[in-house]
Amino acid sequence: MWTWILIGLDIITKVHGFSSGIFLQSCNSLSPQHPAGDGTNFSAQTSAAPFMVDFESRNPGDPITVVLRSTGSSRFRGFMMEAREAAPADSSPLVGTFISLDNTTTRLLTCNGLADSAVSQRNNQRKSLFRVNWTAPQINQDIVFRATFVENFAVFWENVTSTFNLSTTTPAPSTTTITPAPSTTTIKHFYNY
Ligand SMILES: *[C@@H]1O[C@H](CO)[C@@H](O)[C@H](O)[C@H]1NC(C)=O
Ligand SMILES: *[C@@H]1O[C@H](CO)[C@@H](O)[C@H](O)[C@H]1NC(C)=O
Ligand SMILES: *[C@@H]1O[C@H](CO)[C@@H](O)[C@H](O)[C@H]1NC(C)=O
Ligand SMILES: *[C@@H]1O[C@H](CO)[C@@H](O)[C@H](O)[C@H]1NC(C)=O
Ligand SMILES: *[C@@H]1O[C@H](CO)[C@@H](O)[C@H](O)[C@H]1NC(C)=O
Repeated sequence: MWTWILIGLDIITKVHGFSSGIFLQSCNSLSPQHPAGDGTNFSAQTSAAPFMVDFESRNPGDPITVVLRSTGSSRFRGFMMEAREAAPADSSPLVGTFISLDNTTTRLLTCNGLADSAVSQRNNQRKSLFRVNWTAPQINQDIVFRATFVENFAVFWENVTSTFNLSTTTPAPSTTTITPAPSTTTIKHFYNY
């Protein structure tokens, strides 16, 4: 089963009656849990991810455009991403909502009962760039975006994170466009999930 990748496709979802349940199982782990065929699941890659979570400039108060991108020549077929309040940690609540920029390629997900709190794809083409908007109520906290990138069924990178400093947007001092620097992209790897 090409779980994340195939079930992400609308046609497969319709023909085979799958829901986005496979993504919902991954709501907190963001782990694709692709079976290796020997009773175990494939493990995330331990190398540095050839992908990153980036942000585009915006006007204060507007949604943030989050960009999933390749840093080299690698392409990704699938992904899943969430946003959390940076402090204290992974156990922080999911925050904000994702806004689709293209309904033909974007799948918004309800994780932990929160509509549109996670995002995945409807399209398993190889891609080097994927954009989605994100917005939140006024909160003065850093937000950690965390993604899993799937290059193919057996090859994926988990916990690719990037922090967005929301306080750079409040209050809006002028109409000047703020270009938030994507802060440290931290990557941690898992061997047994
Ligand atoms: C592999 O993933 C499945 C979900 O697809 C999960 O139920 C199972 O516990 C996982 N197996 C291992 C060994 O982690
Ligand atoms: C997405 O965010 C950008 C940057 O803030 C904004 O210009 C655009 O209108 C937003 N689009 C949607 C559909 O939210
Ligand atoms: C996506 O679908 C939603 C709900 O059907 C709609 O409100 C929204 O305008 C659509 N967005 C785009 C970019 O087509
Ligand atoms: C976020 O930005 C504010 C205002 O520029 C700054 O005071 C704060 O230290 C930043 N937080 C982090 C974690 O960088
Ligand atoms: C993801 O990476 C961050 C930074 O290295 C780490 O603090 C966090 O525990 C990791 N998340 C998971 C689910 O392991």
